Amino acid sequence: MEKKKNGMKRRDFLKGTAKAAAATAIFGLGGAKMFGSVLSNNNTFTKVSVPTVTLNNGVQMPMLGFGTNTLNGDIGIESVSNAISVGYRLIDTAHIYGNEVSVGKGIKKSGINRNELFITSKLWVDDAGYESTKKAFATTINKLGVEYLDLYLIHRPKGDVKGTWKAMEELCEAGKIRAIGVSNFTVEQIKELKSYATMVPVIDQIEIHAFYQQKDAYPIFKNSKTQLEAWSPFAEGRNGIFKNPILAKIGQKYNKTNAQVCLRWHYQRGVVAIPRTKNKNHMIENLTIFDFELSKDDMETISSLDLNTTQFPEWE
Ligand SMILES: NC(=O)c1ccc[n+]([C@@H]2O[C@H](COP(=O)([O-])OP(=O)(O)OC[C@H]3O[C@@H](n4cnc5c(N)ncnc54)[C@H](OP(=O)(O)O)[C@@H]3O)[C@@H](O)[C@H]2O)c1
Repeated sequence: MEKKKNGMKRRDFLKGTAKAAAATAIFGLGGAKMFGSVLSNNNTFTKVSVPTVTLNNGVQMPMLGFGTNTLNGDIGIESVSNAISVGYRLIDTAHIYGNEVSVGKGIKKSGINRNELFITSKLWVDDAGYESTKKAFATTINKLGVEYLDLYLIHRPKGDVKGTWKAMEELCEAGKIRAIGVSNFTVEQIKELKSYATMVPVIDQIEIHAFYQQKDAYPIFKNSKTQLEAWSPFAEGRNGIFKNPILAKIGQKYNKTNAQVCLRWHYQRGVVAIPRTKNKNHMIENLTIFDFELSKDDMETISSLDLNTTQFPEWE
């Protein structure tokens, strides 16, 4: 029997892929395709693939990825390498996390081809402006050890956004970035950007989780060309999210954890999520969300958990 790189038998791999394809056909989003494959030597883990969403410029982005904030140094290298080994293909970093070198080393260590990955980084506010954006981008790809980024985001709507966006558009046209977007922008701030932009932001990465569901902005984004991506999809564990009894009761029905219920909820709302963990079991757990579906009632119950306010007031 031919074996794949991780020791998984080819027959099992194909079986897993077919199962995931069926799951996507049932639960999937319009136009979603498979992206990468989830590999594990953990006996309890069912192999699945992560569906993608098509961004407004035609680029395919995984609906579930791996966040890396605070994963620095050796922990960063190990976590990113482990995440890729169990199947994550979308890796989210940022200049301000100070871990682009570690993330790059983790990517190399994983042995996965660059073109199978979807790498995001973000421009920090200190580098806003036309010239400084080009310089900061060059530093970022140099630190990551890659030739191009799949997605580059303006981290916060501060400074010379117009100059920054022009530089990002040019980098995109030059083939150095596949897609450009923003983070922490309000609907109004995106409208302002669009008044002079040639390219519409493909993504707005904002705080979204069960306790802050962005119910005002959500329908506006759903009817726009800008895809929502959730940062801190678990609210970083705040407000007892992993022990929340309402989420736990829903999870019991499907034999799923609070973390899995949260991520499935993001997926069913059509929001890309990038959970972060340094724990390999959690990495696998967080990927195993494509084999069940929350009912309409479950979605409504989770909707009632909304506190309609940030869980990170210190960042306001
Ligand atoms: N654009 C922005 O302004 C912005 C802001 C914040 C974050 N982000 C991005 O979003 C990513 C995710 O957000 P985040 O890092 O703030 O927090 P998060 O993903 O909401 O939560 C991370 C926490 O959840 C725990 N965890 C993960 N999986 C778990 C599981 N299955 N069971 C129990 N605990 C689990 C982790 O602990 P363990 O390690 O012990 O598992 C960690 O303490 C960041 O890493 C970053 O890439 C962007």
